[in-house]
Amino acid sequence: MLIIRLNTSELQASNFPEIMYPLLFTSCLLLLPLLLIFFRFPTGLSRRRRRRSYKLPPGPKPLPIVGNLLNLSRLPHISLLHLSKQYGPLMYLKLGQIPTIIASSKETAFEILKTQDLIFCTRPETIVFSKFSYGGLDMAFSPFNDHWKQLRKFFIADVFNPRKIQSFRRIREEEVGILMNTITRISSSRKLINFTDMALCLFNNIIYREVFGKRLSADGECGASPHHDMIMMAVSFMGGFTVSDFFPSFWWADFLTGSRMKLQRCFRMMDELYEKEIEERWVSIERLGRSPPQDILDVLLLCLVQKNPLLGFLLSRNEVKALLLDMFFGGTVTTALTTVWGMTELMRNKEAMKKAQDEVRQVVGNKGKVEEDDLKQLHYLKMVIKETLRLHPAAPLLGARECMKDTKINGYDIPAKTRVMVNISCMSRDPELWPDDAEIFKPERFENSSVDYKGNHIEFIPFGSGRRICPGFALGLAGVEIGLANVLYRFDWTLPEGMEGKDIDMREHFGIGVTKKTPLMLMANPVKFEGRI
Ligand code: HEM
Ligand SMILES: *[C@@H]1O[C@H](CO)[C@@H](O)[C@H](O)[C@H]1NC(C)=O
Repeated sequence: MLIIRLNTSELQASNFPEIMYPLLFTSCLLLLPLLLIFFRFPTGLSRRRRRRSYKLPPGPKPLPIVGNLLNLSRLPHISLLHLSKQYGPLMYLKLGQIPTIIASSKETAFEILKTQDLIFCTRPETIVFSKFSYGGLDMAFSPFNDHWKQLRKFFIADVFNPRKIQSFRRIREEEVGILMNTITRISSSRKLINFTDMALCLFNNIIYREVFGKRLSADGECGASPHHDMIMMAVSFMGGFTVSDFFPSFWWADFLTGSRMKLQRCFRMMDELYEKEIEERWVSIERLGRSPPQDILDVLLLCLVQKNPLLGFLLSRNEVKALLLDMFFGGTVTTALTTVWGMTELMRNKEAMKKAQDEVRQVVGNKGKVEEDDLKQLHYLKMVIKETLRLHPAAPLLGARECMKDTKINGYDIPAKTRVMVNISCMSRDPELWPDDAEIFKPERFENSSVDYKGNHIEFIPFGSGRRICPGFALGLAGVEIGLANVLYRFDWTLPEGMEGKDIDMREHFGIGVTKKTPLMLMANPVKFEGRI
C-alpha cells in the first residue's frame, strides 16, 4: 500500500502524512544500516538536550523516527486544535526530527508574539524557503538579523506606504474592470463562473502590474497565461513539504524522490522570468533615462545603483529577485483565497449578502462601478471582510518561527532552535473570546467593536503580530475590498441549479494558505443600472 501511494508528483503539494510514504519506502528498502547509525549518533540537538534535562511542555508521545507526524492530518491546524484540547495551550511535538512547540491560547500566543517576540522572531531554514529566497536574502524567510531589519524598514517606508498603495489605485480599478467584463461575457452565455479561478487571476494580474508594471494575462482578459501557471506552481511549492524539511539528516531523500530536481526546475523558471523582466527594464532605463519610480521593480532597481538611506547598503541582483518573489508568495494566494472565502460565506448567508449588496448599491447609486473613493463608506463590507479573516485566516499557523535561545513559557523550558507555531484557529473560534456564536459567520459582531487586525488584539491576528507581522496587509486588503465591492455591486449571484447555501462544500485545503478545497462555482446575473448604457 505504501508503494502504491508513492507518487512523486504528489510530493510537492503534499501535506504532512504524505511526506511519510516516500520516506518509509526509501528507509525500508535502502536504509536500515543508516538508521542504525542515526540512532547511535544522535544529531547535535538531541545530544545537547540529553546533557541537560529540560522540562518540556506536554504533548503526545512521539514515535521513533517519525515523531508526532502521524498525529497530524492533511489539515494540521485542525489536528493541532484537537490536540490542544487534550494537552493544553502550550504543546511540544516532534515533527519528524524537528522539535516544535505550538501555542494555542491568547496567553501563550501573546507570550511568543509580544512579550518574548525578540527571542522568537527568527525563521527556520528549510530547503524550499532557502532556495526561493536565494539563501535567506529576502524578507519573509530571512532569519532575524540586521539585514532583515533594514529590508523591512525600507519596504515599509518605500513600498507598503499609504501613498504608494494609493498610487496603485488605477491598477486595481482597471483590473477589477477587466474582471467584470470577463464575468459579464461568461454570464451572457449562461455558463457558470469559476469564482476561484477569477479571484486568482485578478490578484495575479494586480500584483504583476504593481511589481512589473504590466499584465500577466492576454489583453482584455482575465484568463490564465503560461506565467500564471508557473507562478502558481512555485507558490504551491511553498505550501508543500519535502522529506528533508522534517528529517534534515535524510537530506538525500529529496534526491531520491525527485523533489529536489523539481524544486530546482521551478526555481530556475522563476529566476529566468525575473531576469527577463529586470533586463527589459534596464534597457528601457538606458534608452529613456530614469523617471521617478512607478512600480515596485523601479523602487528596487534604484537600490542597485543608489544607496537607499533606510537600507544603508546597495541591493544585489539576487536580493532584488528574492524580494520580488516575496511579493508573489505573500500577495497573490492570500488575497485571492480571502476573496473566495468571503464570497462563499456570503452565498451561505443570504441576509449578510443582501445587507452588503444593499449597502454598496445605495452608496454607489447608478455610477456603474465602485471606485476606491467609495470604499470608506462601505462599513458593512469591511465587517464582512473582517469576519472572513476571522473564520478563514489565510495562514492559521502564521509563518514558522524558531526560538533563538533557551527560554521559558508558563514554567516550561523552550530550548534554543525549537520550531515555533502559533495556531490562531484556536483563538479565532474560541467561544470564550467570541461569545456571540463563535462558529457562525456574523459580520455584525464587529459593529461598535474596537477589535482590528493590526496585531494588538491577539484573539484576531490573521496577519500575525509582533516584529514579523504581515507588512503587506493594507496593500492586500485594498484589492480584496475593491474586488468584492464590485462583484457585489455589478451582479446578483446564484448557486448552480438545485444547490442551496448549506450545500456549499466548505472543506479546506492546506497549502501555501488554507484555500477552499473545491472551486466556488456561481451563476452571475448582471444588474441593470438606470441611466447607464
Ligand atoms: C489578505 C491578505 C494577506 C494575509 C491574510 C497575509 C497574512 C500574512 C501572515 C499571517 C504573515 C506571517 C506573519 C508572522 O509570521 O507572524 C505574513 C507575512 C508576510 N506577508 Fe502577508 N498577508 C496578506 C497579504 C500580503 C501582501 C499583499 C503582501 C505583499 C505584496 C504580503 C507580504 C508579506 C511578507 C513580505 C511577509 C513576511 C514578513 C516578515 O517575515 O518579515 N502579504 N502575511
Ligand atoms: C476552477 O479554477 C481553479 C483554479 O484555477 C482550477 O484549479 C479548477 O480546475 C477550475 N475548475 C473548474 C470546474 O473549472
